[in-house]
Amino acid sequence: MKGFTVEQPGAPGELRSDLEMPEPSDSQVLVKSIYTAVNPVDTFMANWGTLVIDWPLVPGCDAAGIVVKAGKNAINPLGIAFKEGDEVCGCTRLGNKGYSPWQEYFLMDAQVTIPKPSNITFAQASTVGVGALTAFLGIFWGLKIPLLDPENFPGEKDEWVLVFGGASSVGKFAVQTLKACGYRVITTCSAKSFDLLKSLGADATIDYKKTEPDIISEIKSHTSGKLNLIMDAVSVNNGLAISIFAALSENTGLTRLYTTTNDWEPLPDASNGFISNPILLGPIGRPDAGELNERLNKFIPVIVKLIDSGKVQVGEYVEAGEGVEGIKEAWEVQKSGKAGSKKVVIKVADA
Ligand SMILES: NC(=O)c1ccc[n+]([C@@H]2O[C@H](COP(=O)([O-])OP(=O)(O)OC[C@H]3O[C@@H](n4cnc5c(N)ncnc54)[C@H](OP(=O)(O)O)[C@@H]3O)[C@@H](O)[C@H]2O)c1
Repeated sequence: MKGFTVEQPGAPGELRSDLEMPEPSDSQVLVKSIYTAVNPVDTFMANWGTLVIDWPLVPGCDAAGIVVKAGKNAINPLGIAFKEGDEVCGCTRLGNKGYSPWQEYFLMDAQVTIPKPSNITFAQASTVGVGALTAFLGIFWGLKIPLLDPENFPGEKDEWVLVFGGASSVGKFAVQTLKACGYRVITTCSAKSFDLLKSLGADATIDYKKTEPDIISEIKSHTSGKLNLIMDAVSVNNGLAISIFAALSENTGLTRLYTTTNDWEPLPDASNGFISNPILLGPIGRPDAGELNERLNKFIPVIVKLIDSGKVQVGEYVEAGEGVEGIKEAWEVQKSGKAGSKKVVIKVADA
């Protein structure tokens, strides 16, 4: 089987055609890779070994494909047994042999596998796993917002949530989901993304390239101090959250919470007047990540409903390369930053 491998940390990737076909356990599915998206974590894994268990590494984790073999207890998060031919997407185990969509066939853990929403293509579906699951972890675990009931949307609240990096893949899912939860959303993004973010529901946008005092003053003027929740969707830096909360002298009496995708810096402690919770999707699927897997399992039906109903839209993407042979090209496009806030995806095979 073909796959794109990295022999050791920092080595250039190469195409190999001698990879072993993985065998799903009872609670897993074997999936044919149709589309895959490139994420920042692929470079972290390949360059520094972040989250990597097995070398040589096959980077990649954002997947969309078709089940070709299902374990006998492979139950999807909607409570239905997976079967051959099911269309799926999601984030696979990271850095673990046999689990990457940057090879022709790969394993997924049924508990955290997303049944592909029927209204999106495989290319779009390949951008859902990492972005949506991370956004949900931030909102419904990091910020302690009760999990949304997509059959019964809450009314609008006079409370703000600030999202750093609304144009990022995680940020776009976060802004739309927070709007569905009834919050007023203010987000930082570059000026060229203002219209996009407004179309996704953001009530206010701030250019992140402005100075910190200007950013803080705009936040104060928009929110009138009614801001207790901040989510960093783009791993900016924790200092910005500290400065913003410190500048909001008017405390509304509600607990202030901060959550971030930045999982390498120490989190601000409670002496700053707010509670910080990290977002950690990295161990997804691993047997020792039971609590995380259970949480993600509960998120997935909501994600599927939100996308299926059109309440949450999947972000735009650019396509680069084709086949496992094309992964190197797509990865270079993503690393160059030329795709901007659009996800880079590769068609690995025909459906
Ligand atoms: N901890 C976890 O479990 C976890 C999970 C997933 C992702 N992450 C991390 O989360 C971050 C976002 O991932 P992603 O895949 O969503 O990224 P992405 O889609 O590649 O986001 C890139 C976009 O973010 C915007 N941006 C860059 N710097 C910004 C800043 N200082 N303020 C506001 N916006 C900024 C840029 O928008 P413009 O083009 O408009 O300039 C850029 O296009 C990455 O650092 C990733 O490693 C962590």
